[in-house]
Amino acid sequence: MPRIFFRTSGQVRPVDAPEGVSLMEAAVRNGVPGIAAECGGACACATCHVYIGNSFRARTGEPGVFESEMLDEVLAERRPTSRLACQIRITSDMEALEVDVPVAAP
Ligand code: FES
Repeated sequence: MPRIFFRTSGQVRPVDAPEGVSLMEAAVRNGVPGIAAECGGACACATCHVYIGNSFRARTGEPGVFESEMLDEVLAERRPTSRLACQIRITSDMEALEVDVPVAAP
Protein backbone atom coordinates (compact mmCIF):
# COMPACT_ATOMS: atom_id res chain seq x y z
CA MET A 1 0.00 0.00 0.00
CA PRO A 2 1.77 3.17 -1.16
CA ARG A 3 2.30 5.97 1.32
CA ILE A 4 1.27 9.33 -0.08
CA PHE A 5 2.51 12.60 1.40
CA PHE A 6 0.00 15.43 1.23
CA ARG A 7 1.36 18.89 1.96
CA THR A 8 -1.33 21.26 3.11
CA SER A 9 -1.29 24.46 5.12
CA GLY A 10 2.39 24.04 5.91
CA GLN A 11 1.99 20.51 7.24
CA VAL A 12 2.76 17.11 5.77
CA ARG A 13 0.07 14.45 6.11
CA PRO A 14 1.22 10.90 5.34
CA VAL A 15 -1.60 8.66 4.10
CA ASP A 16 -1.41 4.94 3.37
CA ALA A 17 -3.54 4.60 0.25
CA PRO A 18 -4.87 1.28 -1.03
CA GLU A 19 -4.20 0.56 -4.69
CA GLY A 20 -7.21 1.14 -6.90
CA VAL A 21 -8.80 3.99 -4.95
CA SER A 22 -8.51 7.50 -6.26
CA LEU A 23 -6.10 10.01 -4.81
CA MET A 24 -9.15 12.07 -3.83
CA GLU A 25 -10.73 9.15 -1.94
CA ALA A 26 -7.49 8.49 -0.09
CA ALA A 27 -7.33 12.15 0.96
CA VAL A 28 -10.98 12.45 2.01
CA ARG A 29 -10.99 9.15 3.95
CA ASN A 30 -8.01 10.42 5.92
CA GLY A 31 -9.30 13.93 6.57
CA VAL A 32 -6.76 15.79 4.47
CA PRO A 33 -7.90 19.42 4.57
CA GLY A 34 -8.41 21.44 1.41
CA ILE A 35 -9.97 18.72 -0.75
CA ALA A 36 -13.72 19.32 -0.72
CA ALA A 37 -14.53 16.83 -3.50
CA GLU A 38 -18.01 18.28 -3.81
CA CYS A 39 -19.04 16.13 -6.79
CA GLY A 40 -17.84 12.89 -5.22
CA GLY A 41 -15.34 12.13 -7.95
CA ALA A 42 -17.41 12.79 -11.08
CA CYS A 43 -14.87 15.28 -12.51
CA ALA A 44 -17.50 17.98 -12.28
CA CYS A 45 -16.45 20.38 -9.51
CA ALA A 46 -12.64 20.81 -9.55
CA THR A 47 -12.60 21.07 -5.75
CA CYS A 48 -10.07 18.23 -5.59
CA HIS A 49 -7.37 20.24 -7.37
CA VAL A 50 -3.83 19.26 -6.36
CA TYR A 51 -0.26 19.73 -7.55
CA ILE A 52 1.66 16.53 -8.21
CA GLY A 53 5.34 16.38 -7.27
CA ASN A 54 7.40 16.89 -10.43
CA SER A 55 9.24 13.59 -10.18
CA PHE A 56 5.91 11.71 -10.08
CA ARG A 57 4.23 13.25 -13.11
CA ALA A 58 5.13 10.36 -15.42
CA ARG A 59 3.50 7.91 -12.99
CA THR A 60 0.30 9.88 -12.52
CA GLY A 61 -0.02 10.80 -16.20
CA GLU A 62 -1.45 13.86 -17.85
CA PRO A 63 -5.01 15.16 -17.50
CA GLY A 64 -7.52 14.06 -20.11
CA VAL A 65 -9.39 16.56 -22.25
CA PHE A 66 -12.38 16.94 -19.92
CA GLU A 67 -10.20 17.08 -16.82
CA SER A 68 -8.07 19.73 -18.49
CA GLU A 69 -11.18 21.81 -19.17
CA MET A 70 -12.15 21.52 -15.52
CA LEU A 71 -8.65 22.58 -14.48
CA ASP A 72 -9.20 25.80 -16.39
CA GLU A 73 -11.88 26.63 -13.79
CA VAL A 74 -9.93 26.00 -10.57
CA LEU A 75 -9.73 28.78 -8.00
CA ALA A 76 -6.04 28.41 -7.26
CA GLU A 77 -3.39 28.93 -9.92
CA ARG A 78 -3.29 26.24 -12.59
CA ARG A 79 0.24 24.88 -13.01
CA PRO A 80 1.83 22.26 -15.27
CA THR A 81 1.62 19.87 -12.31
CA SER A 82 -2.10 20.49 -11.68
CA ARG A 83 -4.40 17.48 -11.58
CA LEU A 84 -7.81 16.62 -10.22
CA ALA A 85 -7.20 14.10 -7.46
CA CYS A 86 -10.35 12.16 -8.33
CA GLN A 87 -8.90 11.31 -11.74
CA ILE A 88 -5.76 9.60 -10.42
CA ARG A 89 -5.90 5.94 -9.39
CA ILE A 90 -3.40 4.80 -6.79
CA THR A 91 -0.96 2.21 -8.14
CA SER A 92 1.90 0.35 -6.49
CA ASP A 93 4.52 2.55 -8.16
CA MET A 94 3.24 5.66 -6.37
CA GLU A 95 5.14 4.99 -3.14
CA ALA A 96 6.17 8.31 -1.53
CA LEU A 97 4.08 10.35 -3.99
CA GLU A 98 4.19 14.02 -3.00
CA VAL A 99 1.01 16.02 -3.42
CA ASP A 100 0.53 19.71 -2.64
CA VAL A 101 -2.97 20.88 -1.82
CA PRO A 102 -3.31 24.44 -3.10
CA VAL A 103 -4.77 27.22 -1.07
CA ALA A 104 -7.48 28.81 -3.19
CA ALA A 105 -7.45 32.54 -3.63
CA PRO A 106 -10.25 34.27 -1.68
S1 FES B 1 -14.18 15.47 -6.78
FE1 FES B 1 -15.21 16.82 -8.15
S2 FES B 1 -13.81 17.06 -9.76
FE2 FES B 1 -12.77 15.74 -8.40
